[in-house]
Amino acid sequence: MGPLGILMYVMALLVMGLIHYRVYRWRNPKCNGRLPPGSMGLPLIGETIQFLIPSKSIDIPPFIKTRIMKYGPIFKTSLAGLPVVVSSDPEFNYYILQQEGKLVEFWYLDSFAKLIDLRGLGRDGESTPLTSIGHIHKYMRNMVLSQIGAEALRKRILPDMEETCQKALVDWSTQESLDVKKATSSVIFDFTAKLLYGFEPEKNMSERFSYIFQGLLSFPLNIPGTVFHKCLKIYLAYDELTQIFIQNQKMGLKLMKDLMDERRAMPEKHRGDFLDQILDGMKTESFLSDDFSVLAMFAILLASFDIISSSLTLALMFLTEQPMVVKELEKEHEEILRNREQREGGLTWKEYKSMNFTMQVVNESLRMLNVGPGIMRRAIRDIHVNGYTIPEGWTIVIAQSALQLNPETYDDPLSFNPWRWKNLEPTVVAKSFIPFGGGARMCAGADFTKAFIAVFLHHLISKYSWEKVKGGEIIRSPVLGFGDGFYIKIRFIVNGLWAAWSVLSCYENIVTIFVIFDFGAKLLCGFGPEKNTSETFNFLNQDLMYFPLNIPGATFYKCLKIQKMAMKLMKDLIVMDDELYSQRIMRRAIGDIHVNGSTLYINGNISLEMSEMLYM
Ligand code: HEM
Repeated sequence: MGPLGILMYVMALLVMGLIHYRVYRWRNPKCNGRLPPGSMGLPLIGETIQFLIPSKSIDIPPFIKTRIMKYGPIFKTSLAGLPVVVSSDPEFNYYILQQEGKLVEFWYLDSFAKLIDLRGLGRDGESTPLTSIGHIHKYMRNMVLSQIGAEALRKRILPDMEETCQKALVDWSTQESLDVKKATSSVIFDFTAKLLYGFEPEKNMSERFSYIFQGLLSFPLNIPGTVFHKCLKIYLAYDELTQIFIQNQKMGLKLMKDLMDERRAMPEKHRGDFLDQILDGMKTESFLSDDFSVLAMFAILLASFDIISSSLTLALMFLTEQPMVVKELEKEHEEILRNREQREGGLTWKEYKSMNFTMQVVNESLRMLNVGPGIMRRAIRDIHVNGYTIPEGWTIVIAQSALQLNPETYDDPLSFNPWRWKNLEPTVVAKSFIPFGGGARMCAGADFTKAFIAVFLHHLISKYSWEKVKGGEIIRSPVLGFGDGFYIKIRFIVNGLWAAWSVLSCYENIVTIFVIFDFGAKLLCGFGPEKNTSETFNFLNQDLMYFPLNIPGATFYKCLKIQKMAMKLMKDLIVMDDELYSQRIMRRAIGDIHVNGSTLYINGNISLEMSEMLYM
């Protein structure tokens, strides 16, 4: 071997040594203690590819499940080029969520991090020091809570929420079928956009925002400059996706800026909403620059609709397969209607608070939802847990799915069983049920979310039936998705009690009973009752209040028989023909009607949209 050969040989040895050292370092990162068990995977990309492999089950993502089985509840890995510890230990997770600003900081990857990173967004473009982040967070959080927290719901929001749900259901009942995720996203998006910014979005705007939200949740997709980024370019036609994402994000931010400028230019449009609060705050708070405020508005709108619609979709998927749960819900909501004091009024706060079983359904849906991979934090100091050390700078993922689908905590965790919530210990709930996170960063929209789902279910269950048309595939990639959607057909039903209640609510005393009952029946259900039907209904109304003793001879027993009769009567009104299927009902003119210069003569047929009828 000549000198050149020797040189080449030495160089090759050096390069191999260096690679070996790098690989060794990658696999054994520096740590002032013992790292949790686990594998750091391949250099640079770590275990990202395995993490992204989709699964078609509601269960804990396989990436997390298999590693918990292999390494225990806390394991290390590497995702998107970052060292990560994933934890499914309830005690540790609970502890970490209380350590905001002490041991950990709020931390999400990539674009999401940029979106919510408070540093560098001061009014003069100067860095915001870490110490003032606590103040900014508190300030913004209080502002959001004053708009959508429990007090705001009780005092202002509930009636509008109810009207929104009612209108949506009436509209949906006229459609052949609808994708629950898309339809609910659009309704909730429009509702929160109006509530927070007084803005009425154009059609399909929610889809664009939904796209941004999904993009942000999609863990490590956008880390420019990394090998992983280049890999994904090929793997996912990534540039195209990124472009659409960026365009939508720009559109969203511009929209927020326009709303802000518009409100500034027209102070008379002041409505005390979130936007007004921001504009007022700008007078005293230096961190509320235009850029920061626009980002905050955008982030809150993003946070406000997509996950609720996923929860509702999942809840409906489970309810479709669980008639027993629907029955129990029906019981609860009929009870609410039966006990309603002011018949003409809407849902009251007290009624909402009495929905115990509905809340169990909401909790059960949230338990199984687990939209994203988990709650993320970054260690700002070394953290010691169970004899291991999590080094400063590492990302910690609190895997909610592993807590909420843990068979040791929840019997048969993949079955949708709202009844389980009756017996769960408060300590279990506090530590192993964290759909809204915990500690100082706990979701500011938690009350809003629960109220929306409950109000929606109240109207759906009381007045509609539905059936699955197609879809319903679950995909965790690892963000929860619904494949090609979940399509249902919704039908307005004349539920015996609801109809009786509605009709009865038209009259107040016995003198007007005959006239108004007949009028109400015609108006609401399009039928002319026989003589004495009103008396029978009145009997039903009075006696439903009796103690529910279901034995022959008891008043309540008689009442149930009459209720059966009333239900049959209402069912007979539903003409099962094509006309009804398209949710139109034929009416007969009982006098000549003159419309737009033409005349519909007596006994002619009029077709009315069910929705129009309801809003007459
Ligand atoms: C099913 C529905 C929802 C779920 C599962 C959910 C989940 C979460 C979670 C887990 C966090 C904590 C994140 C962390 O600690 O890193 C959070 C924070 C937050 N959520 Fe929600 N959320 C939902 C609905 C909403 C809605 C409807 C809104 C607003 C209208 C909202 C606004 C917020 C805000 C502002 C924060 C930040 C709170 C803070 O940092 O103080 N969320 N959410």
